[in-house]
Amino acid sequence: MCGIIGYTGKEQAAPKLLLGLKRLEYRGYDSAGIAVSSEGGFSVCKKKGRVSELNGAEKIKGVCGVGHTRWATHGAPSERNAHPHAFGRFVLVHNGIIENYLPLKEECEGRGEKFISETDSEVIAHLLEYYDRGDVLAALKETAARLEGSYALAVMCRDEPNVLYAARRKSPLIVGRGKEGLYLASDVPAIAECGELYSLCDGEFAVLPGDKIRFYGEEGEIKKETMKLVSKSDIPEKGEYAHFMLKEMHEIPAAIANSLINFEDDFCFSAINIVLCQTEYIQIVACGTAYHSGIAAKYAIEALARVPVEVTVASEYRYRDPIVKKGTLVLAVSQSGETADTLAAAELAKERGATVIAITNVPDSSITQIAHFVLFTRAGREIAVAATKSFNAQLALLFSLAVALAKAKGRETVPSLRPLPALAEEVVSEAEKMKEIAPMLLGAKSVYFIGRGADYCAALEGSLKLKEISYLPSEGYPAGELKHGTLALIDKGTPVIAILMQEGLSEKTMNAVFEVYARGGRVILVTNLPEYAARKEVYRSVLLPKCEELFSPILSVIPLQALAYYTSLARGNDPDKPRNLAKSVTVE
Ligand code: AGP
Repeated sequence: MCGIIGYTGKEQAAPKLLLGLKRLEYRGYDSAGIAVSSEGGFSVCKKKGRVSELNGAEKIKGVCGVGHTRWATHGAPSERNAHPHAFGRFVLVHNGIIENYLPLKEECEGRGEKFISETDSEVIAHLLEYYDRGDVLAALKETAARLEGSYALAVMCRDEPNVLYAARRKSPLIVGRGKEGLYLASDVPAIAECGELYSLCDGEFAVLPGDKIRFYGEEGEIKKETMKLVSKSDIPEKGEYAHFMLKEMHEIPAAIANSLINFEDDFCFSAINIVLCQTEYIQIVACGTAYHSGIAAKYAIEALARVPVEVTVASEYRYRDPIVKKGTLVLAVSQSGETADTLAAAELAKERGATVIAITNVPDSSITQIAHFVLFTRAGREIAVAATKSFNAQLALLFSLAVALAKAKGRETVPSLRPLPALAEEVVSEAEKMKEIAPMLLGAKSVYFIGRGADYCAALEGSLKLKEISYLPSEGYPAGELKHGTLALIDKGTPVIAILMQEGLSEKTMNAVFEVYARGGRVILVTNLPEYAARKEVYRSVLLPKCEELFSPILSVIPLQALAYYTSLARGNDPDKPRNLAKSVTVE
């Protein structure tokens, strides 16, 4: 949700800001802008649309500046609402939401101040101007104390043209030192070349006067530990692929292999093993794709370890007064580790006495500061807004946890996870075939995905992928639920994607297939059971290799991800940057 960047140093700021913004664009892309300190003021360039719209901005002269790429919350995507926002001597970029901006705005308007945009962010510039009595840090602290909600802020003041000021609360902010200057950014890859990186924590401030970095907490100046440096592979590049999403689908086998954990082999998991032994009850909290991985984990954990699991969308968990009994383990699953609802749900669970394990793909993300324990999926940076490899990696990790829990509960025989990376390789290598199936969806009013048990999880995720990047209305249903209402929507030619990876449930799922066929629907069957692929009721089939049934969504989702990708392309969309969405949802 919005990317922010800042630079101060010896070199020209504008090209560095624009490069950083390009790398941050996955966080939002409906408008972009930069402001650079120049003689006696700021040069500002803002445009509706993507960073590439900022033509000519690279020529702006000056060695200190800030930039922003926006995902609109308050006010439509427009040049007027694009950041940076300025008032008086201040200019700033903001990521987050100022929840009390309306009363603050009224207060400023009461002083006769005029607002230009409809954003919540502009009020911050007004408060800075009001509170500044010659000490910008003090003004920033006073301003921050008035703000409710979340913010990562990069601020410049006309009186100190080469100094950057920063503040953070509930929105990520990284500070870096490179060879040629100092940087601020929402995320590490934007400033990956820096040889020294720091992550600001909630309530902290930073001042970058061009040559040194100073950090401040509530009480005064503080020292901070540096973060682990990034490797070149952390810098997002599409390489030979047309889109990040396609590249990331090809990285699925490695993501699975790197995220399988053997809890017995590794000493650092022994503490988690102790927690698992004491676990009586599990709650999984997550959003979107990560929520779907929680559903697959529920089936696997309950079947293998016989521990009851409740999976709840994080935005529901945080407001429903959840019951946290003794022995409750909460798994907070988030690729980005920054999703506002998942963070709030994890905090609430912790307050109520649960042990919280975060499962995330991003080291140093906010969720790692909340949880008692952190397990990392090792999928590598995921840039495409539609999650692919991170989902498969979450499944690999959660299935490893299911196996570890089963062992901790004394189960002697547990299925092996080892074949999964090679099987995924086989499936990925065939995924391009979905290009032939995609045209079948083009004229459809809506598309349905059905399955039972573990297949239901794949159905949900396949449907989310399709709506997210192709903009076709779609629903994922338990196959048995179809006749309780949704069947009314099936008529001649309606595409229904049925997932069937579990022999024991085959007749039951096939009943739903027959019901769809009888109403003229066209069934595309994704299965590892060749005998069903050849049935006359099946319009097209996708044959997959066999694997442990509980783990099968890790394979069956791959053709569904590919189907969404090729459908998106066929509809002329940009699969990496679907409309209205952003990669990490750091606001409610
Ligand atoms: C997935 O394709 C989506 N972009 C979205 O549902 C995402 O999974 C959700 O916002 C949760 O994100 P997180 O895993 O970073 O918490």
